[in-house]
Amino acid sequence: MTNKDLKQLDAQTILHPSTNADDFARHGSKIIQSGQGITLQDSDGNKLIDAVAGLWCVNVGYGRPELAEAMRRASMELGYYHTFTGMSNVAQIELAERLLALAPKSLSKVFFGSSGSDGNDSLIKIIWYYNNLRGRPEKRRIISRWQGYHGTSVATASLTGLPAFHRDFNLPIDGILHTGSPDYYRHAEPGESELAFSRRRALELEALIQQQGPDTVAAFIAEPVMGAGGVIVPPEGYFTEVQKITAKYDILFIADEVVCGYGRLGSWFGSDVYAITPDMMTTAKAITSGYFPFSASFISEEIWEVVRQGSAKYGSFAHGYTYAGHPVGAAVAMANLDIIESEQLVDNAAEVGTYFHQQLQAQLANHSCVGQIRGRGLIAAVQLVKDKTSKTFFDPTVKVAPQVTAECYRRGLIARPLPSIDSVAFSPPLVVGKADIDRIIDIFAQSLRAVMEKVM
Ligand SMILES: Cc1ncc(COP(=O)(O)O)c(C=O)c1O
Repeated sequence: MTNKDLKQLDAQTILHPSTNADDFARHGSKIIQSGQGITLQDSDGNKLIDAVAGLWCVNVGYGRPELAEAMRRASMELGYYHTFTGMSNVAQIELAERLLALAPKSLSKVFFGSSGSDGNDSLIKIIWYYNNLRGRPEKRRIISRWQGYHGTSVATASLTGLPAFHRDFNLPIDGILHTGSPDYYRHAEPGESELAFSRRRALELEALIQQQGPDTVAAFIAEPVMGAGGVIVPPEGYFTEVQKITAKYDILFIADEVVCGYGRLGSWFGSDVYAITPDMMTTAKAITSGYFPFSASFISEEIWEVVRQGSAKYGSFAHGYTYAGHPVGAAVAMANLDIIESEQLVDNAAEVGTYFHQQLQAQLANHSCVGQIRGRGLIAAVQLVKDKTSKTFFDPTVKVAPQVTAECYRRGLIARPLPSIDSVAFSPPLVVGKADIDRIIDIFAQSLRAVMEKVM
């Protein structure tokens, strides 16, 4: 089939995820054919630096023979076998031990799945199961934050705090509540310090818990650094203040590390950076660098113990997926962790990430349409504003962030538009070097200038 035929067939046959179906029907798809290192090639022959690492996940970069070989070997040895009813495989056992050694010490067991959504969904069900077994079925509400992103299944889209994921989908479901986002740039009062803002957010959380009744609130979920909602870095003291409230009301803390986990912030987990002591944690994406759909959700010993006692009384823990602990996925995760460790990619994320933020500031902070540059390690977002002083955003119909990223694409760079917050996000593979960073910022700055000349 020709490139044109393929694009036509795509438009006729596929409902694309998170895609404007109308735009897509008119403009068609972009077909990505191959990848090597941080570079992709599309079917029109364009070479593109992928400064997003797929969807914030290809941490070891594209075309890694080690992962292909691990996949081949594991598929030949045991292409699949389930892990229900106590069945196991060597790869998942080795992986679980390795992950628990890396994870925050408050966590003691791991539950495997295939995606960030099913990882979070499993934790919601475990929370309900746990409180039912403890004889407090009314303690079931879960609080997340506006601008948070936790997935798109029925329950996790409800947790996600972005209106487009609720509107017209009959969501959120009952029992899922949202509290204010930690976005200091947009929501701080004039003259309010970061710490005062963090305390205000914690008090608002407490007020919501009080209003609902503390005996009805089971858990609070947060990404250490918000990803899709805008790359929002928590303001000073935020997680310290919030954890005081969750501890006070016996509310479980879920760290959603689907983006931050496995090195993105320049440390293994975001929980390490922000002194979060999670009762539960979800990871996915970079656990296999996206080469195999895989997730690992973690629970504390206390939760595990309740589940164990429940099974002894009531029978088996009736939850799980066909592909849980997939032997090929687990082998890919092991090979991926080998690369992250042997190439010291977590340290590289810290070092190159610092350079990235320095250069973003140096090259872009003075631009009249750049309101804020935020992030940490190898995740960043540039906030586009029409007016810097009043922090006025562009008219949403201008679609300024998508225009900038379309211009980047034409110049050989993939950056990610976050239209809900008029920002452009970056999360390059952790193998990125300083010269690559210079190139990424250079193309982005050119693209930004080109679009601003049109829209201002
Ligand atoms: C923080 C976070 N949690 C959960 C998810 C959902 O993961 P998935 O798309 O694999 O279901 C994502 C996806 O981007 C995410 O960023």
